[in-house]
Amino acid sequence: MSRTRKIIYGIVALVVIGLVAGVLIGNLAVVRANPPITYEVQWNSPETEALVRRACFDCHSNETVWPWYSYIAPPALLVAHDVEEGRGRMNFSTGHELDADKMIENIEKGAMPLPIYLTMHPEANLTAEEKATLIDGLTQTFGAGQGGGDDGPGVNATPEVNETPEVNEESEESE
Ligand code: HEC
Repeated sequence: MSRTRKIIYGIVALVVIGLVAGVLIGNLAVVRANPPITYEVQWNSPETEALVRRACFDCHSNETVWPWYSYIAPPALLVAHDVEEGRGRMNFSTGHELDADKMIENIEKGAMPLPIYLTMHPEANLTAEEKATLIDGLTQTFGAGQGGGDDGPGVNATPEVNETPEVNEESEESE
């Protein structure tokens, strides 16, 4: 076997080993759970809901659509981390920390949706007009300057929704 050929086989072997290890780690070490939905936001309009689903739901709800690369480490670890942290800060599916001011501040700064997310989800990259609609809708839904929170204004306080939540299933929310 020629030297070049040995090097090529070596590289191929490394790539294969890397992929196998990535898939193993991505599947054994990463939990891609979608816990039950226990809260129903009363959106001011279907447009607001659609925009939030498009731009925020993957990390701030229990209806995450887990992408293919969330099954392969290292990206799997990143995605799982962002979702865990995102849900921890604010969760539309549980009513946790729904604060219009904070949401709007982060959208205006360009901090949310996380810029890294936009590279793989161009549909979440809102136009200036869509951002304005979203900000207006968030104010109307969660109330301006009121803090909000687990029992914030404009939000239905009913703790349970009637539908059976889809747990651990591919969500139909990809739109
Ligand atoms: C790719 C995942 C992801 C997406 C998509 C995303 N977020 Fe976040 N969000 C996070 C993470 C991670 C944090 C916590 C770390 C941080 O603040 O950067 C966070 C934090 C927040 C916080 C809390 C900030 C604070 O000061 O406590 C708010 C509010 C927020 N996001 C709003 C939004 C809104 C509104 C959208 C949609 C327009 C959105 N996020 C989309 C991942 C995401």
